[in-house]
Amino acid sequence: MKRPLHLSHDFLAEVLEKDSIALDATMGNGNDTAFLAALAKKVYAFDVQERAVQKTQERLAQLGLENAQLILDGHQHVDKYVDEPIRAAIFNLGYLPSADKSIITMPDTTLEAIGKILERLEVGGRLSIMIYYGHEGGDMEKDAVLDYVKKLPQETFATMLYQPLNQVNTPPFLVMIEKLK
Ligand SMILES: C[S@@+](CC[C@H](N)C(=O)[O-])C[C@H]1O[C@@H](n2cnc3c(N)ncnc32)[C@H](O)[C@@H]1O
Repeated sequence: MKRPLHLSHDFLAEVLEKDSIALDATMGNGNDTAFLAALAKKVYAFDVQERAVQKTQERLAQLGLENAQLILDGHQHVDKYVDEPIRAAIFNLGYLPSADKSIITMPDTTLEAIGKILERLEVGGRLSIMIYYGHEGGDMEKDAVLDYVKKLPQETFATMLYQPLNQVNTPPFLVMIEKLK
């Protein structure tokens, strides 16, 4: 069975084409940025940590990918940097395991960014949100995101949840959104 992270990529790959604009809202070590850059024309990638930008730069260089713009700023400021329609976007919420665990995504800024990205999503465009919530504050962010997504108008957005049901602790899960019109 596919893990949520694996499905999050498959869900976006299905709609990405060589002329697509993609967005990684939480760059971290650059795994998602590299995945998107291999499929899209251009990727906008955001993180608030200098270390994430460096790691991602190294990763892309190793892979010979030159079509990502790495932005050292919060994803809530996406409107300052992106005015093209977005085909596919991804969030990995929480903290970067290999870095400062006190730097986490926060409910208010996460929702602000999701709202701005959904506005800019093309019809047929998709957003994957991987929710990690085992850390302090993670539960609040999980609830805020689920509450927000549940209230999206069903005529405009299709939404799905993919979540392990019998795993102990707090396994990450995936929220998928597609813009319908
Ligand atoms: C779970 S990690 C992302 C992992 C990443 N997708 C990867 O492939 O390695 C979450 C990241 O979100 C970043 N972050 C926290 N608040 C942010 C914000 N407001 N805007 C953008 N990134 C943020 C953290 O610095 C951290 O690197």
